Amino acid sequence: MQLDSLSWFPGHMTKTRRMIVSELGNVDAVCEIVDARVPLSSRNPDLDELTAGKPRLVVLNRVDQADAAMTRRWAAWFYAQGYATMEADAKSGAGVKRFAPAVRELLKDKIAAYEAKGQVGRVLRVMVLGIPNVGKSTFINKVSGRKTAKAEDRPGVTRTKQWVPVDRTLELLDTPGILWPKFDDPAVGMRLAFTGAIRDEVVDVEELAMRLMDYLGAHYPDALAARYKIEAADGADGWTLLGRAGRKRGFLISGGEVDTERMSRILLDEYRAGKLGRFTLEEPPEATDG
Ligand code: G4P
Repeated sequence: MQLDSLSWFPGHMTKTRRMIVSELGNVDAVCEIVDARVPLSSRNPDLDELTAGKPRLVVLNRVDQADAAMTRRWAAWFYAQGYATMEADAKSGAGVKRFAPAVRELLKDKIAAYEAKGQVGRVLRVMVLGIPNVGKSTFINKVSGRKTAKAEDRPGVTRTKQWVPVDRTLELLDTPGILWPKFDDPAVGMRLAFTGAIRDEVVDVEELAMRLMDYLGAHYPDALAARYKIEAADGADGWTLLGRAGRKRGFLISGGEVDTERMSRILLDEYRAGKLGRFTLEEPPEATDG
């Protein structure tokens, strides 16, 4: 599903928070799914506080759409923050087999403690969380072999929590309710709009495309040059690059001006369809000196 204005309904968020806190006692670990293209912007900033003390696994999902070298940097960054990490492409299923071993590695001390008490093969339970559109449902379905479509996360539609078995000793808690990103930061909203997590209707398409061009021009000029047959490595800003691409495509309006709105929609569609390549749209924060 996509984020939309209804998702922000404060009562909805309060319910989700309450549910997470009340279920924490029933799980051994928390698995957070993030979008590898925007690994920080697709996180919920309150999760650390809400899940304090629980072992955490961060799944960098959608790696098929992200820059592989950047995904490695992000995995190292999350690891340095104390999280176990793994990479996945839930759509094809690549990487999901590593989930169960990753959980068992994360919980190896706990498993040893259970075994010391004679509880061999005790079922491990993992709460799976993620903001909309990171691929949470797809991931759960692939990991568990579940075929049923997920229930709608719409306000007003009652959906109860679900325990989803992965194997004989591992179960997932699929949580209803919507987890929200840090939407008070406009840069975060912008990145989520690039990926399509936030609907285009709530953002200005030309502004969005211009900013995406800005980022791609600065970080991936060769990809722009290859796709649009334009000069992109000369430091030109997003607006200029959008104009060059539109002109090259022949998107002109009366007077010979470029139809930037049309080019903007094309850029966003082509980016989201993966036609420009695989990109990561934010960098890990610099390590700070202790
Ligand atoms: P959510 O529960 O986090 O809201 O996300 P959901 O699983 O519903 O996935 C949203 C869309 O993202 C789906 O596409 C899904 O197939 C796709 N997706 C999930 N994980 C990955 C991934 O790792 N890589 C890629 N490339 N796509 C992924 P859709 O177009 O809405 O549906 P469908 O056409 O695939 O059925």
